[in-house]
Amino acid sequence: MRKLLIVGNWKMHLNASQASLLVHRLSERIKIHRDIEVVLAPSMLALQPLSLQIDRRKFRLASQNAYFHDEGAYTGEVSFTMLRELVHYGIIGHSERRHIFDEDLNMVRDKMAAAIRNEITPILCVGETKHERQDGETKQVLHDQLMTALSNLTAHEVGKIVIAYEPIWAIGQVAAKPDQVKDAVAYTRGYIADVFNDSAAKKVRVLYGGDVAPEVIHGLLAVPGVDGFLIGRASLNYQTFADIVEAAHRWQRNHETSKEGE
Ligand code: 13P
Repeated sequence: MRKLLIVGNWKMHLNASQASLLVHRLSERIKIHRDIEVVLAPSMLALQPLSLQIDRRKFRLASQNAYFHDEGAYTGEVSFTMLRELVHYGIIGHSERRHIFDEDLNMVRDKMAAAIRNEITPILCVGETKHERQDGETKQVLHDQLMTALSNLTAHEVGKIVIAYEPIWAIGQVAAKPDQVKDAVAYTRGYIADVFNDSAAKKVRVLYGGDVAPEVIHGLLAVPGVDGFLIGRASLNYQTFADIVEAAHRWQRNHETSKEGE
């Protein structure tokens, strides 16, 4: 049985006490499922208190960002080294970081190396803008983002990371259609098979992100090669987020049952 990964990216919302309350509410509603891993990515400020609060059988933590040097004169930054006891995962190259904070391909590559060096699993975000899609450049954009971000990694390391396909036109707008996700996910795994090896392409977990809501879960989980979701707005509402986890669990159960009947 493949294990699904559901990540809530809270972005720049919730102070430490609001974050703690949300975790409390989520704990009441989300059950422990062997087939689903639930990850929360609160603000940097909330990571420390939440790391003490969470039931680790239910939740793991991710940072939304971190700097690529481990230590030094970098005012205002937090390193992966500082996060290593707190988080399992680190989101890297989110489109908001690339576009609003001008993170370029090389910086994303260096952050990937820093996360791995510090034994934090990267969740690498890739995806095209609306114009790039309209101009037929989706695959080229994915190619360039994957090529740089993964350039210093071994096949073994690539097999252990997570890649989130988050088309920028979908974030906060309208979820991509299953066919669109299918093409991007197939391209991503194909790239990894070509450049690394089949084993890495099979093992790497690929998520979809962009306006994910409970209604689209089943359609998107039916897309071959999708291992879960990276969720923004809907992860801030405990009921909706719990509904997404339940919908994913139901899908897993039905899928397993139908496989057993084959
Ligand atoms: P939304 O789910 O709000 O579209 O955000 C997606 C996202 O950017 C998650 O990282």
